[in-house]
Amino acid sequence: MMKIRSLICLSILSVGLVSCQQQKPKDAYADEVEALLSKMSLAEKIGQLNLLDGSWQAERLENDIRDGHVGSVLNCSGETANQLQRVAVEESRLGIPLLFGRDVIHGFKTIFPIPLGQAASFNEELIEQGSRVAAIEASSVGVRHTYAPMIDVTRDPRWGRVAESLGEDAYLTSRLGVAMVKGLQGDDLTDPSAIAACAKHFAAYGMTEGGRDYNVADISAETLHDYVLPPFKAAADAGCATFMTSFNEINGMPASASKYLFTDLLRDEWNWTGMVVSDYYSIEQLKVQAFCETLDESAIYGINAGVDMDMMSHVYWPLLEDLVKAGKVKESVVDNAVRNVLRLKYQLGLFENPYCDTTRDSVFYAPEHLETAKKLATESVVLLKNEDQVLPLTDNIQSVAVIGPMANAPVEQLGTWCFDAEPEHSVTPLAALTEECGDRVKINYAKGLAYSRDESETEIPAAVAAARRSDVVLLFVGEEAILSGEAKCRADISLPGAQSKLIDEVAKAGKPIVLVVMAGRPLTIGAETEKCAAVLYAFHGGTMAGPALSDLIFGKENPSGKLPITFPKMVGQVPIYYNQKLIGRPAGDDIVLLKDIPVEAKQTSLGFSSYWLEVGYKPLYPFGYGLSYTSFDYKKIQVSNPELKMDGSIDVWCEVKNTGTRPGKETVQLYVQDVAGSATRPCRELKGFKKVEIAPGETEVVSFTITPDMLGFYHAVDGKTYPETGRFNVWIGSSSEGGLKSEFELVK
Ligand code: BGC
Repeated sequence: MMKIRSLICLSILSVGLVSCQQQKPKDAYADEVEALLSKMSLAEKIGQLNLLDGSWQAERLENDIRDGHVGSVLNCSGETANQLQRVAVEESRLGIPLLFGRDVIHGFKTIFPIPLGQAASFNEELIEQGSRVAAIEASSVGVRHTYAPMIDVTRDPRWGRVAESLGEDAYLTSRLGVAMVKGLQGDDLTDPSAIAACAKHFAAYGMTEGGRDYNVADISAETLHDYVLPPFKAAADAGCATFMTSFNEINGMPASASKYLFTDLLRDEWNWTGMVVSDYYSIEQLKVQAFCETLDESAIYGINAGVDMDMMSHVYWPLLEDLVKAGKVKESVVDNAVRNVLRLKYQLGLFENPYCDTTRDSVFYAPEHLETAKKLATESVVLLKNEDQVLPLTDNIQSVAVIGPMANAPVEQLGTWCFDAEPEHSVTPLAALTEECGDRVKINYAKGLAYSRDESETEIPAAVAAARRSDVVLLFVGEEAILSGEAKCRADISLPGAQSKLIDEVAKAGKPIVLVVMAGRPLTIGAETEKCAAVLYAFHGGTMAGPALSDLIFGKENPSGKLPITFPKMVGQVPIYYNQKLIGRPAGDDIVLLKDIPVEAKQTSLGFSSYWLEVGYKPLYPFGYGLSYTSFDYKKIQVSNPELKMDGSIDVWCEVKNTGTRPGKETVQLYVQDVAGSATRPCRELKGFKKVEIAPGETEVVSFTITPDMLGFYHAVDGKTYPETGRFNVWIGSSSEGGLKSEFELVK
């Protein structure tokens, strides 16, 4: 029964691919690994595959480690980690060091913007620097494995973990995910400040149905191969040391049991040689998912799939020992998993250097760390609207009202997933603005609402009064940190609590409003933005969110963020994403909206095109969109050759001129469309971007190289990805809408 089911599930995923269980060629530590493996008992081998949570098992842990039953511990650092390490190294039979893991998602102590915010920077170098800082801080207390980056592409802002994602686009996620891997791992894993990165969650976790966490992913092979997998392939190619399984099933097959994903694809096809860790309890949950009848079966599936380490399920240990003895699991399969674990420990230099130096000066919040956090927070902010150039504030402004539940919320600006952060180190917008304004500009502060979900309206009149006394209003709204992240999904993605009411009331004071939104996801803020002169979307900006925003508001910095995900007008539009397929009946500008439909209108009177009656077909803001205090003019797109040969390349470029009066950074974006294919093609796809800084009046020529491999797509018929000859459209522009257009032909 089990076998048949597995074959059916696998065949859905693995069209055209051959599977094989061989380990890949040996690496530099092969001799050490083999020597150690040959000394290990079966029980000790299985112990290396066991990952336990230090915060849950404190009492039992030391005994289990001494007995050789534990290979890695999560959520434990500093002196406590050293103490456990001492037991492993000095008291266990073979003295194999432990690996300490932790979710260092967007900083350790110094907190950077949530990953979705970082993605808005479109700045690989800065993101890499941020991840380097995170690694330096975390490794200083013994953390040498982090469960990041999360490179799950998602098109659903309801999903709580959209905050932890790099947005909706596979290409953007690939490039930024690789930047994170490089920053975390540094140049050499043996460097004590390097931590092993983990590409997660393999795979399709971001495609969770209905935007509800842990739900099923029911997706086509095309979506899997063209959108979900490319960031993981990029991470594997970049040498990401580990991968994590995902909780979800894909088309009936739980990812944590998928031999196709972890052996056939990752190891055999992509030639990746790292270590795979399960997600928390995900091996045990194979039973809950109605896939395995017993935990024995879960263990068999997990280990045979190629999942090396079992996080917290307590399934590999103790069940695998009897399963091997009974001939139900081959010892060679266990050996391969152990090799992957040991190799990583050697690569990290843990055998020579198992302890962290707790006597060393702390590296937390070093000035250069805070500076990097500020830069990244600054570049993560997206200017969505700036009517009459109300921003940046000029010297004429003598008083500002600072209003809203997010203006001075040190915990909330940090966002989700920052276990080690200390909110007392957060510099809030109110604190930064107070410092910036000094005696020059008067600040009238009124919170209006105590927290984002606050429904009480009693403090709103005081906020309106503050607005009346001021030249301009800075209104900080959004979501508390707890409203996004793992298992924090929302069915309604509007501003929570009475925040819309607060905006309505404050608008009645008649002063220009600068709305600053600090949130873990795109929010449906269309109606609110109409009442405001300017809108800055700041996500959760981390420790230095305040100074970053203050500099932007007063024009010391110029906004340069671009949206890494489409913003819907209404939650009912979700999923809505820029690279959609073209449809046979697209809507045009002549659509009739619900409010304009005459009573008793005839069934055919609206025509037959594709849109929503309430909101049409367009999003609130498209992917790639973001304004600047200056303006950029795109001119003269050119293609080096109208024909691209299968073994060649062409260049495409245009001029970008800063036509305003301030220096500014612009993310110039390259999109391509395959005009017709053996399968329908998306309307356009991001294939390149460059962030350039241009002085006022200056022109920059921005050029991209296009090669055929960038144009490939998955072919279900043979399970392969390759490009097809024919005509392509190409655009260079400032967002996923519009841009300068040209074309070329891909020829044999
Ligand atoms: C999450 C992972 C995380 C792990 C350990 C799980 O619930 O899905 O992303 O790394 O917990 O904290």
